[in-house]
Amino acid sequence: MLVSIVYDSGCGHTARVAEAVAEGVREVEGTEAKLVAVADGAMDWNALERSDAIIFGSPTYNGLISAKLKQFFEDSTKAAWSELKWRNKIAAGFTNSGAQHGDKLNSLVSMALFAAQHGMIWVGLDLMPGNSSSTGSTDDLNRLGSWLGVMTQSNVDQAPDITPAGSDLNTAGYLGRRVAETVRRFQPA
Ligand SMILES: Cc1cc2nc3c(=O)[nH]c(=O)nc-3n(C[C@H](O)[C@H](O)[C@H](O)COP(=O)(O)O)c2cc1C
Repeated sequence: MLVSIVYDSGCGHTARVAEAVAEGVREVEGTEAKLVAVADGAMDWNALERSDAIIFGSPTYNGLISAKLKQFFEDSTKAAWSELKWRNKIAAGFTNSGAQHGDKLNSLVSMALFAAQHGMIWVGLDLMPGNSSSTGSTDDLNRLGSWLGVMTQSNVDQAPDITPAGSDLNTAGYLGRRVAETVRRFQPA
C-alpha cells in the first residue's frame, strides 16, 4: 500500500508536519509513505496514480493554500482529473499557519473540494477537539479543534525544529495512521 503526501512548505514548518504524517503512515504494517514536495520540480504522476491514498498539505498563506500547491492542483487536471485516475483513492489534508486560527479552514475546504472533484474519498479526523475544557491543555491531540483535516500552528518567529508544537505533530501522525488504516480497510480480502 502506498500513501503519497503531496505538500508545499515555504520555510519548512509544513514540511515538518508532512514528515510527522509520513511517520504515522509507516506505523501501519505494509504501508509505504512517499513525501512529494511540489517545489521539487517535475511531478511523478505515475507514482501518484499508483498510490492508494494522497494526503495534501500546505501552509495557509493569505487564508488560502499556497500558490505552489494550487499550481499542482491545476496541473493535475490534465494529468489525472480528465480520466479520473484518482477516483476512489483515499484523500486527506493538513495545513499549518502562524495564527492559532489564521483562516486555516479555507485551506482544508479547498483540498476536500479538490479531492471531491477527483472522485476521491475524503477522510477527516475522528478526534474530539483538544484544549476545549477546564482540564484540557495545549498538549492535547487536535488542540486546535479541527475535523476536516489536521490544523497545526507554528510561531512565526521560531524555526521548524521548535515549532509547531509536539501535540500538533502527534495529531499529524494520527492522521497518517488513520489514512493508512482506512486504505487497509478498502483493500480486497
Ligand atoms: C505570504 C504569507 C501569507 C501568510 N498568510 C497567513 C494567513 O493567512 N494566516 C496565518 O495564520 N498565517 C499566515 N502566514 C504565516 C504562515 O502560515 C506561517 O509562517 C507558516 O508556518 C508557514 O509555513 P511554511 O514554513 O511551511 O511555509 C503567512 C505567511 C506568508 C509568508
